[in-house]
Amino acid sequence: MDSIIVTGNGPLSGQISIAGAKNACLTLMPATLLSEEPLTLTNAPRLSDIATMSELLGSLGAEVTQLQDGKVLAMSSHDLNNHTADYDIVRKMRASILVLGPMLARDGHAIVSLPGGCAIGARPVDLHLRALEALGAELELKDGYVHAKAPGGLKGGTIDFPLVSVGATENALMAATLAKGTTVINNAAREPEIVDLAECLQKMGAQIEGEGTSTITIQGVDRLNGATHPVVTDRIELGTYMLAPAFCGGEVELLGGRMSLVGAFCEKLDEAGIDVTETDHGLSVRRRHDHIKAINVTTEPFPGFPTDLQAQMMALLCAAEGVSVLEETIFENRFMHAPELMRMGAQIDVQGGTATVTGVKQLKGAPVMATDLRASVSLILAGLAAEGETKVSRVYHLDRGYEHVVRKLSGVGANIERIHNS
Ligand code: UD1
Repeated sequence: MDSIIVTGNGPLSGQISIAGAKNACLTLMPATLLSEEPLTLTNAPRLSDIATMSELLGSLGAEVTQLQDGKVLAMSSHDLNNHTADYDIVRKMRASILVLGPMLARDGHAIVSLPGGCAIGARPVDLHLRALEALGAELELKDGYVHAKAPGGLKGGTIDFPLVSVGATENALMAATLAKGTTVINNAAREPEIVDLAECLQKMGAQIEGEGTSTITIQGVDRLNGATHPVVTDRIELGTYMLAPAFCGGEVELLGGRMSLVGAFCEKLDEAGIDVTETDHGLSVRRRHDHIKAINVTTEPFPGFPTDLQAQMMALLCAAEGVSVLEETIFENRFMHAPELMRMGAQIDVQGGTATVTGVKQLKGAPVMATDLRASVSLILAGLAAEGETKVSRVYHLDRGYEHVVRKLSGVGANIERIHNS
């Protein structure tokens, strides 16, 4: 298994290009199942999760061709010859559940394996299922699979989500585009990935209003056509690399970055003493002083502070002046990076969904282990600011969500290399 070695660093300088968003691409890809005509995505990220989604779509009879070194995904779902999403693929990635709504909407039947738990908590899919039931789907859970049917086709309905879910909103939105009549989604997620999906579906001929607000209204149509769509910038990759100069000093420009994608995150950076300015090509980041100020952070659905940047922010606050409190409100078990950061000398007290971080003067390099995608990158960032060498093992987590992490960070002067262990 590969590992990454990071050695504590001086100031960084240069530019990092931000890729298309993993989470947007993983919901845009299943949208191909809604149409017999081709759907082409540009600005796709090169990640193992994208390969997993390609494999899943391929198993259903869709064709996915990678062009331009994987930056373009040309997809066609002309002939779907299988309507069962098998456990062996679904278990690798929870976003697999996003094929359920489109298959059901197009052909009136689908069988999809339940994804099961994951490292950051139970993560149920009940809201996805309830939303499809509100559109007239008949569901049965058998042997770990959801068997879904809509014999006369899906029908528009009102979906009231009791809590905000990105994935359930995406599944409902895709299914509703081909349902008969009007669907209203209340308490919808407002993430940029939802807006990106709605824009792509609109290009395919869907009638959608209110994307980016809590109420989305969809007027069902008989069929959708093909389209070409660029994947929105990855706000989590953006936020992650914005932290690199906050850890090490210097100034880094993030190409493709936009303030509107990371508003709440930028407010917290400002409180901590980090300046973010808009440039012609993106965002530029530098710290105001040598030290970082302690701050309090609570994760929330968009437009609040993203749970996917909580681990990286915690790593930064480990060496801040004072005591910071981080509250995780989205997932119940998302502090697994804390014990690893403590191996590097951090002082963190975790009580349920609250972590109290007492800043130390200097983190120390240590062998650490990546436990999930965002946790693994937080350890790399911490290593950049630590004294000595940090070896991060189990970096396959990282390959799910960050393309060319070593190339991007070494390009701005970081001391980082990947070791291939047999
Ligand atoms: C998506 C992102 C993930 C991000 C998360 C929150 C993708 C592929 N993943 O995940 O990176 O961390 O949004 O921004 O886009 N819940 C239920 N029942 C459900 C669905 C969700 O109880 O049926 C709960 C979850 O356990 C969690 C909360 O709702 O507590 C939010 O989860 P959700 O927004 O659905 O996350 P994902 O779509 O899985």
